[in-house]
Amino acid sequence: MKIKNICCIGAGYVGGPTMTVIADKCPDLQIDVVDLNEKRIEDWNNNDFTKLPIYEPGLADIVKRRRGKNLHFSNLIKEKIENADLVFISVNTPTKKKGVGAGKASDLKWVEACARQVAEFSKGHTIVVEKSTLPVRTAEVIKSILFASYNLNEDKETEKTFDVLSNPEFLSEGTAIKDLENPDRVLIGGEKEEAIEALCSVYRCWVPEEKILKTNIWSSELAKLTANAFLAQRISSINSISALCEATGADIREVSRAIGSDTRIGSKFLVSGPGFGGSCFKKDILNLVYLSNHFGLPEVANFWESVVELNKWNQKRISELIVKKLYGSVSGKKISILGFAFKANTNDTRESAAINICKDLLEEGAILYIHDPKVESNQIAKDLNLEPLKESFTEHESLRNSEIGNWYFANSIRESLTGADAVILLTEWDEYTCIDWREASNLMRKPSWIFDSRSILNPEKIKASCLNFWRIGDGSIN
Ligand code: NAD
Ligand code: UGA
Repeated sequence: MKIKNICCIGAGYVGGPTMTVIADKCPDLQIDVVDLNEKRIEDWNNNDFTKLPIYEPGLADIVKRRRGKNLHFSNLIKEKIENADLVFISVNTPTKKKGVGAGKASDLKWVEACARQVAEFSKGHTIVVEKSTLPVRTAEVIKSILFASYNLNEDKETEKTFDVLSNPEFLSEGTAIKDLENPDRVLIGGEKEEAIEALCSVYRCWVPEEKILKTNIWSSELAKLTANAFLAQRISSINSISALCEATGADIREVSRAIGSDTRIGSKFLVSGPGFGGSCFKKDILNLVYLSNHFGLPEVANFWESVVELNKWNQKRISELIVKKLYGSVSGKKISILGFAFKANTNDTRESAAINICKDLLEEGAILYIHDPKVESNQIAKDLNLEPLKESFTEHESLRNSEIGNWYFANSIRESLTGADAVILLTEWDEYTCIDWREASNLMRKPSWIFDSRSILNPEKIKASCLNFWRIGDGSIN
């Protein structure tokens, strides 16, 4: 089973960067990334490399290097599957919105559609690899669809055969290229040694042998959900202690450092913030909750569900606290929102804590000036389900008397701060650490407040600028 041609179905946050790195590390392989979404493919083929559909540090340079050589983006799903020895399924697996399992189970309709496409278009032997994050035992579903098309053809020459492997992705957005080029591990679950070996041979181009873990297919599927659940659990744990710090005079940064230096606990994923966002943590934990209930384990389900509940509570806690500090009302007040992405170095806003916090403040009648270096205005409008003001607030002083919340897309930090009653820092973009707080203080309306939900700002400089200051988990100043 020698791999020459790879097709990846799904040109999203995983398919795009992952295939780009494989193409870069394995110049002898031809990689085709296909997607139903024509606009997304058009953007991947844009000659202006700043306009790729996904922003990831380092990604554009590699796309520039490989595109048109051994990396191709197209909508030619049929042709590229036909030609492939190995197909990665890298499509979205969101939480089901309706029907059985709504709100918890993963919606597998896109994965099922891929299996049907491969069953229909593939030729000869094809290794089908689950790259998407999936409920345990999804490989069974994929196999049953693929194997239904087995041996329909009497002619041995054109007979179709398949192997199914699980190879979940562990990259984090914002550091995707680094994670892909130097992964902690590559996990491959499967049944047939020959197929596992074929996929290993791709990764061996740059990943050391000892980092390639082989397991049975169900362990691989479950390990991915478990990894995300453990990471998210650490964030909810530290955020719960953060609230306790604020109530007791302790400081979460000191507590994190103290517990993180215990090698059994470790220092990563102990940064308290506004709550985890991103497309996967919540969806994957809810999927685990659904599976646990399905397999008759309600205690396990409740344990994991509490991680998501705590996250929701944490976001609410922050918006309520802001309203309280601003004398019980934000109606008609201008509030600068710094950062809308779910973390720094990405343009992704899926499940960003900023969405719920902004919605709460809009509900209270605030006028938000939202700034983010990479997120576009139309994405924010979609997330908030509200179109922005066309003209700046300064031209509409009358808005101060309005009961209805509004928002405006701030093109610069300065525009966002001018005349603001408060600044709420929600994403830890580097450029927010360079704000001149003396100048900011002169621009803002007094008394002015700075809320640092990521704890990246310098408290001394802010306080020296006569600004009121709150930061997450700091009981010594709140
Ligand atoms: P995404 O929404 O960014 O991309 C998925 C793409 O698949 C979309 O462009 C969509 O048009 C395309 N698609 C759907 N059905 C298709 C079909 N039948 N044929 C062709 N194209 C089709 O999703 P993503 O963030 O890349 O996530 C993909 C999977 O990877 C999910 O299961 C997710 O849980 C998992 N994952 C994501 C991350 C991450 O950081 N985003 C990390 C690890 C794993
Ligand atoms: C996460 C995992 O880290 C990846 O291993 C996994 O592949 C991916 O989910 C996935 O399956 O989608 P990602 O969501 O891209 O990656 O980003 P993270 O760095 O994990 O951050 C998630 C959220 O947690 C962000 O909102 C971040 O700000 C928050 N976070 C992270 C904290 O609040 N504190 C921390 O200490 C770390």
